Amino acid sequence: MTRQRVLCSAALPGGALERLAAAHDVTVGEPPTGLGRDAIAARIAPFDALLTLLSDRVDAELLARAPRLRVIANYAVGTDNLDLEACAARGVTVTNTPGVLTDATADLALALMLDACRRVSESDRLARAGAWRGWAPGEMLGVRATGATLGLVGFGRIGQAVARRARGFDMRIVYCQRRRADPAVERAHEATFAPLDELLAASDIVSLHCPLTPETRGLLSRERLARMKRGSVLVNTARGACVDARALAEAVRSGHLAGAGLDVYTAEPAIEPELRAEPRIVLSTHIGSADGPTRAKMADMCVDALLAALGGGDVPHRVGPLPSPSPPG
Ligand code: DGY
Repeated sequence: MTRQRVLCSAALPGGALERLAAAHDVTVGEPPTGLGRDAIAARIAPFDALLTLLSDRVDAELLARAPRLRVIANYAVGTDNLDLEACAARGVTVTNTPGVLTDATADLALALMLDACRRVSESDRLARAGAWRGWAPGEMLGVRATGATLGLVGFGRIGQAVARRARGFDMRIVYCQRRRADPAVERAHEATFAPLDELLAASDIVSLHCPLTPETRGLLSRERLARMKRGSVLVNTARGACVDARALAEAVRSGHLAGAGLDVYTAEPAIEPELRAEPRIVLSTHIGSADGPTRAKMADMCVDALLAALGGGDVPHRVGPLPSPSPPG
């Protein structure tokens, strides 16, 4: 096989990149957080393949500077950082990492849920500050998680994995998504379908598991947050842009919501000061997929896809519209 040139936005955990480097010439970006859109655009011209992080935006303008580019492997399941139509129009195959991070993300959703309900991080800060005055019957009272009604917005792989875990807490599962799930899936999770507004009004905890699309951008708007049950909790491990962050901070400050657990933000790594100021909002740093084995498997999936695409084989985990047979010049 002829060696081809691959630009990898950042070093990846595990040994996958060594496998890739055995077959192709791999250039790895220096910053651990990835090269970013502009540095990729400046360097992409001689490369046949690109491995992107979710923080690397790929748009039509970048693609126009990439005459040799045939494949992009996105080191994430979400592909909202990529213009899939533009990739298809230029004949660039796109792949992602579905399935492998389902459990890790569901684990984190539960961690944020329990933390936001039971004020673990807040209590930790109190302890570290030396400000704990001692056990008191009325102190640090939280939301009861056991037996809560859990509203899942998005009921795909990750939403269902959250439902499985939540059943261990005797939670009642309500879900919404564009298309109603198969009756067998509903039965397996004892889950009830409800339109979004009904779900918001009925749930003690709402957890987002939808992709970021034009339909879900701003889905939890100020108006929708106002429809959530008083004293309920919001968890977001999906994408920050699905929620109006300032309206969420206000809803928590006013006591309309008891708290929130967030892993994702609209303009990462920036986090809205209003969210940071709110002690009842638990903040993590987009660590949904961040357990060691998961991140190594994501790297393996990207490398498998790149090797297949560059070797002319069947490419696993393709996403978006298929590339047109003759890309524009
Ligand atoms: C993804 O893969 O889209 C996740 O957000 C990574 O944590």
